[in-house]
Amino acid sequence: MVKTFFYILFGVLLLWGDNLLLAQQINYDESKVPAYTLPDPLVMENGVKVTTPAQWWKQRRSAILKIFDENVYGKVPGKLQHITFRVREISRKALDGLAIRKQVTVLFTGNDSGPKMDLLIYIPNSSKKPLPAFLGLNFYGNQTVCKDTGIFLCRSWVRNNPDFGIYDHRATGASRGVRASRWPVKKILASGYALVTACYNDIDPDFDDGFQNGVQPLFYKPGQQRPAPDEWGAIAAWAWGLSRALDYLETDPDIDAGRVAVMGHSRLGKTALWAAAEDQRFAMAISNMSGCGGAALSRRQYGETVERINTSFPHWFCANFKMYNDHEDALPVDQHELIALIAPRPVYITAAVEDRWADPKGMFLAARYATPVYRLLGKTGLPDHAEMIPGKPVMGTIGFHIRPGMHDVTSYDWQQFLLFANKFLKK
Ligand code: GCU
Repeated sequence: MVKTFFYILFGVLLLWGDNLLLAQQINYDESKVPAYTLPDPLVMENGVKVTTPAQWWKQRRSAILKIFDENVYGKVPGKLQHITFRVREISRKALDGLAIRKQVTVLFTGNDSGPKMDLLIYIPNSSKKPLPAFLGLNFYGNQTVCKDTGIFLCRSWVRNNPDFGIYDHRATGASRGVRASRWPVKKILASGYALVTACYNDIDPDFDDGFQNGVQPLFYKPGQQRPAPDEWGAIAAWAWGLSRALDYLETDPDIDAGRVAVMGHSRLGKTALWAAAEDQRFAMAISNMSGCGGAALSRRQYGETVERINTSFPHWFCANFKMYNDHEDALPVDQHELIALIAPRPVYITAAVEDRWADPKGMFLAARYATPVYRLLGKTGLPDHAEMIPGKPVMGTIGFHIRPGMHDVTSYDWQQFLLFANKFLKK
């Protein structure tokens, strides 16, 4: 009894101490945002101004991409020669006849001995093929997006979550449909889009194991134990996996691989932006509440900071990114340039009023400061009249909304994604 009391007291003190620490480190006060100067996406490192699309395409874009590659997310070390696709299942009468369901495994080593990614694909039966698609990674397995019992259970390590029916890092049948609120499958299909998803842990399980599992070891040279300081962390690996999903979609006659929107929430929103920056085959990017290391400007140090994210999630970015812990000013790029790398393709960015951790204003400003690149390429970017008003989305080539509420993907968010996609991906 006495012992239990002390354990509880100890626990409370620990939590309290952690919060005190947090309160000191994390800034939510706009007046305490440090003064900063952003790198200009349209000025080259030698000071020359970029005034033509040709200069952007030939010089500036690749220079910015290289900086992100080597200092933020990390480079993909090479190509895998033996990736194969295995169609595990096709059902033409899924979801009460509404959809074709395909389940395809991407075998990264060409066989079952290596890591593999299970794709779940829904294609509306009633729409004329080939169709545009949303492609997004999920957190807890394909079976969580919908109650459909035909979906194969996730085979990878997943974060424990008893509320979601996940124990011992394995998905169980009890996890079917637990994330359905984030994936309005029927609405997406009824709007004339296919939906493609995979669990991000299939590519690289989301915990820090020194890069021993996931796809990184497939690229190690003899004797190499972990990625070099400028080589990929988990976010770059997840983004690479999205590109491999797109490789498959290019072979699927029901999908128009030229009209795929890559979408993600939070850490996977960061991933969606990086995937679209790295792989110009993605026609659109949708980044839901991506925050630090996503659409939010690092230099503002509002909410989550570079130091904080590198400490809590040491495996997400490349090792070089740690050099900028509490030295955001030394970063040769900032996140508005990540958005600029997606130009002239449409990109949609969201925030939530209560999700201060992800710095809504920092994301809005990044959209604004990416806009000169869109304009140079003949697109609107974020419209000049755009303001950050909760519940009032803006939709230029860069779209943005902030909605009331918390860090989540809601039906409101999807309603805007569909409207935004309808503007650009419908024929
Ligand atoms: C944490 C992390 C964020 C991330 C989020 C998520 O809150 O600090 O950077 O976006 O997890 O992925 O849910």
